[in-house]
Order: sequence, then structure tokens, then C-alpha cells
Amino acid sequence: MNRKISVIGSGNVGATVARSIADKELADVVLLDILEGVPQGKGLDMLEACPIEGSDSRVLGTNAYADTAGSDIVVVTAGLARKPGMSRDDLLNKNAGIIKTVTAEVVRYSPDCILIPVTNPLDAMCQVVYRESGFPRERVVGMAGVLDSARMRSFIAEALNVSVENTHAFVLGGHGDTMVPLPRYSTVAGIPITQLLDEATVEAIVTRTANGGAEIVKLLGTGSAYYAPGSAVVEMVEAILKDKKKILPCAVFLQGEYGINDLYVGVPVKLGVGGAEQVMEISLQEDEQAALDKSAAAVKELVEILGV
Ligand code: APR
Repeated sequence: MNRKISVIGSGNVGATVARSIADKELADVVLLDILEGVPQGKGLDMLEACPIEGSDSRVLGTNAYADTAGSDIVVVTAGLARKPGMSRDDLLNKNAGIIKTVTAEVVRYSPDCILIPVTNPLDAMCQVVYRESGFPRERVVGMAGVLDSARMRSFIAEALNVSVENTHAFVLGGHGDTMVPLPRYSTVAGIPITQLLDEATVEAIVTRTANGGAEIVKLLGTGSAYYAPGSAVVEMVEAILKDKKKILPCAVFLQGEYGINDLYVGVPVKLGVGGAEQVMEISLQEDEQAALDKSAAAVKELVEILGV
């Protein structure tokens, strides 16, 4: 195929992303990990699934960054996953070290790619990738909001017994407990959920969304979510490859938008072939802006610890 996507980290999220890209025949896929044999084995297994799926995507598992050369998009999932009782923020320093090394190697072989960081704590890791890569902000766009809003959409659909396809959810802010789901802009067939659900139900949905990652971690016992995160990454990949100009909530480096400066925070952006082509600004009420500011402050704290 004439498109190439590399996925760094062949663990649960990375493998789920690679499999889905190959199934959808979106591009050739290179799956890279530091573990020897694992990316090769998973890659070969996926390649062997392609005849059944009717996909001509080629999948290659490797330990060598040279194999990622000339990628259009590179998804970064390398790192440690959260364990029960561990906050996303506990992972900060360990994952920052991994992400720095990974970014340097990726950029060396794919200087024109679009980077999609997925490793947590997401917003801070995006900032590490952005600084280390030297890429313009359009080409470093983090995955978090698509996942958070998908979680919220599932809960809305469940509460109202409607198709998930009718739901739209709006989530702003950092990918953490301080994220800001906005019920006023979350709709079912265009109708704000605040007109369809009582206040207590809306509040319960908002809280469950903000704790969505932790809920799965607790259930799994080891590791963290990967099916929905994988789907979320692939929605972003598809929007970029197909130049769809799709508006999705993503982590981007804000430069004054929403009153936030020089910081990765989740906001709605237009995704196309250039990456995060435009930040969409909407007007916020005072309480919503205050919640966003609080969420941004939580990201800033991490970024300052890392000095990025
Ligand atoms: N280079 C390449 N791969 C690495 C490196 C490195 N320097 N360090 C670790 N890895 C690999 C691990 O070997 C492992 O295979 O990253 C992979 C991570 O996979 P999992 O532990 O299964 O974690 P996963 O569930 O995929 O989550 C990855 O995404 O959603 C986030 O919080 C999650 O930060 C975590 C990341």
C-alpha cells in the first residue's frame, strides 16, 4: 500500500491499533517494541489474518526503527500501563524517559510524519513529544478526548436507551480526573442531554466519564483499557489519512486558545491531512471555563515537574 503507519509499543493498545488499521486496510503497518520477538510474532499473526479479512495491508513486527522510515503517521503507545491504585500521574517520570527516546528515533526516520501520542499521562507526554520532536504543533496531536467522549456516549446511550450513533459528547481538558465533560454541548439527535435527563443522571454520567479509565483498571486487575483506546486512535488515523476535516476532541498545544498558553490540553480540533489543522473555539460559561482552567493547571503541574 502507499501509506505507512508505525505503532510504537506492541502491547495491548499498540497491537489493538495495528490490528484495526490492517483490518480496515488503511495502510501498511509497522509494529515496534523493545521486547524481542513479541512485535515480530504479533505482526506475523496479524499479517496471516489479512487474507481472511480481505486486506492487502502488510504488517511487519520489528525492533528496528529503520523499518519505520517514511511513515505518514506514528502512534506512540510505548510505556508502562497503569496498575490498580496507581494514578496516571505516578507514571510521569518513567514514561517521559521512554517517550523522549522513542520520539528521537521516530523523528530520525520519519521527519515528516504526524505523531499521535497515546502513552499516559497523556497531555504531559504530548508536551514531551512536541518539545523533543521540534515538529509544528499541527503534527503532534494526542489521543484522549475521542476515548473520553466515546465513554460518555456509551453512558448516554445506555441511560436513554438510544443508538450510540445518535449521541455526541463533548469533553474538554486534560485526560485525567479533572477532565471537563460538557453536558450542555452533549446531545442526542441534536438535543442537549440536559433536556433529556435529570440533573442527577447527568451528574452521574459526568462522574463516570471522568473516572472511566480507573473503572476499567479496577476491573481488569492488571493493565488498563485498550479496545476503546484502540478504536479512538484509529478514528483519528482515518480522519488524517482520508483528510476528512473531522472535528474531534484531541490534545493540542494551545497558544492562547481558551485562554491557555503553551500547554497540551484537550479541545476540539479539525483533523485532516495536515494533522490538527484548526483549533475550534467555543464560548464557555464561567463555571465551565473555571473547570477547564483547573484541568489545565493539573497538566501544567506535571509539565513543570518534567521541565518541558
Ligand atoms: N520502546 C518501545 N516499546 C517500549 C519501550 C520503549 N522504550 N518501553 C516499553 N515499551 C513497550 C512495552 O514493552 C510494552 O510492550 O510498550 C508496550 C506497552 O504495552 P502495555 O504494557 O500492554 O500497555 P498498553 O495497555 O498498551 O498501554 C500503553 O497507553 O493508554 C496508555 O496508559 C496506557 O501509557 C499506557 C500506554
